Parts: sequence; C-alpha cells; structure tokens
Amino acid sequence: MEILDGKKISNQIKDEIAAEVSKMKTRREKVPHLAAVLVGDDGASLTYVGSKVRACERIGFESTLVKLPASTTEEELLKEIEALNSNTDIDGFIVQLPLPSHIDEQKVLLAVDPDKDVDGFHPANFGKMALEMESFIPATPYGIMELLDRYNVETSGKHTVVIGRSHIVGRPISILMSRKGNPGNSTVTLTHSRTQNLEAFTKNADIIISALGVPNFLKAGMVKDGVVIIDVGITRVADDTTKKGYRIVGDVDFEEVSKKASYITPVPGGVGPMTIAMLLKNTLLARTRQKVRINK
Ligand code: GUN
Repeated sequence: MEILDGKKISNQIKDEIAAEVSKMKTRREKVPHLAAVLVGDDGASLTYVGSKVRACERIGFESTLVKLPASTTEEELLKEIEALNSNTDIDGFIVQLPLPSHIDEQKVLLAVDPDKDVDGFHPANFGKMALEMESFIPATPYGIMELLDRYNVETSGKHTVVIGRSHIVGRPISILMSRKGNPGNSTVTLTHSRTQNLEAFTKNADIIISALGVPNFLKAGMVKDGVVIIDVGITRVADDTTKKGYRIVGDVDFEEVSKKASYITPVPGGVGPMTIAMLLKNTLLARTRQKVRINK
C-alpha cells in the first residue's frame, strides 16, 4: 500500500509556482492576484478562505479578502462581483460556498467573469471542461487528477466509482475521469444518495473517489483487494482531546480499508492540501492567459 501524500505533492506544486512568480518578479512583471469573497462567518469557510489567502502570500501572489456580513443582500454581492470583474489588477477570484440561504448561488456563479473564474464553477468553464476544451478545472477534482498523475496511478480502462454528485467534486471528477487522456480513460459510475445497493458498485471498483461527507462510511467489506482510494471527505467531529475541540475525519475507515488498498489518500493531508495548490495553479493560469489576451 502506498500513501498518496497530498501534503508533499501540494508543497512541490507550490514550490513550482513560487519559482514562476520569482521569474515574473525578476522580469518586473505583474504577479498573480487572487481575491476571495466570503459572506457571513461560517467557521469552516473562514478557515478555508484564511488558508487560501495565506498560501497566496507564501508563494508571492497578491491576495485580497473581501469579507462581507451575513446580512449582505444578493444585489450587494452581485455589485461586489461586478467590481472584481472590472478590476484589471485582479486576475482571478472565488466566492466561497456555501452562501447564506437568501442568496441565489446560481445567479452569483453566473455573474463571475469566466476568464477570472479560478474555481471553474461558471457554466462556460464547466461546459468547456466536459468538451475537453481549455478552461478552469475546479480545484478539488483538479487536485485529484494531479495526485493520480504524479503517482503514476493507472486509470485507463479502470472502473472508477465516484460517490457523491456535488457540483464541486463528484460531478466534475466523474467527467474528468471519463475524458480522453492520462489520467482519464476510465469507465465511470457516478453514485449518489438515490443509488440502490451501493456496495455492488464499490466492490467492483478499481478506483473509488468518495465525496460524501459521512465520517468512516466506507468499510473494508465494501471494497476489493488492490483498490485505489481517494477520500475527499472532511467532516469536523467533536474531539475534546484536541486544541481546536474537533478533528477532521474522512469518508473512509482508513484503519480497515488501507489494508486492502494499493494506494490511499489520508485525511487530513490527502486531497485537502491539493485543493489549495490547484487554486493557486489556476490563478497563475488566469494571469498568464490574461497577459496573452492583452498582448494580442
Ligand atoms: N466550498 C467548499 N469547497 C469550495 C471550493 O472549492 N470553492 C469555493 N468557492 N467554495 C467552496
């Protein structure tokens, strides 16, 4: 069994990006600038956005955090997005999800300029991704593809079972794994809350990508020997023995399942750190593409 070490690989990627930024600085070019919009004060979202902004600073990007109160109206948020769209100093930005329930998420995602949509959530980018055209690929699925690539995990002709059909992970990773290319060329089954007899699928899977959010859901009895496990679950479970009062638990019972797996991602330290690294990669791409557009 080999651990797919997201912490290590994400650090490699961040070092590669930092080296690019260094070259940009030497050439006196503008460095990438990422903005993050956070509405409200959800604890997990605050943590994620904080990590994204800190990561920008560490690799030499510019970053801006737009923090809005939970009472922000949809109209006010749309105005903020319009300002970021037209601000030529900002190369890419994200609107942290989930949004408060009085705001229409689809309306907000549609308002983001697709050329600055480093989350890859705009339908223009999502559609291009499905059509194998140049786009921004959502950071978490992009991170999974990068992990599989850097560990040379064979995906071609394999049966990949995805658990969960969210727009952020399950749906896009099911598309990416079925696309032509390497990683890719997989035969994909997308399972979800209405799937009957899930075990019948997971027991036959060569690769399982779980993005369910149910701690320790996947047990050893549900998988076959040699399976590749990608655990996207990051649920906070109360734990008084830790300083924060909680710990992060994945969808997979690591103790049991790792004994049967050929490759497995740990939680934490697997997919999580890859998400941030790929967001930075998308921001670098946004800057590069912007430069090409302006010079044209
Ligand atoms: N909420 C959970 N994951 C994500 C993500 O990748 N991007 C944004 N914007 N919000 C999220």
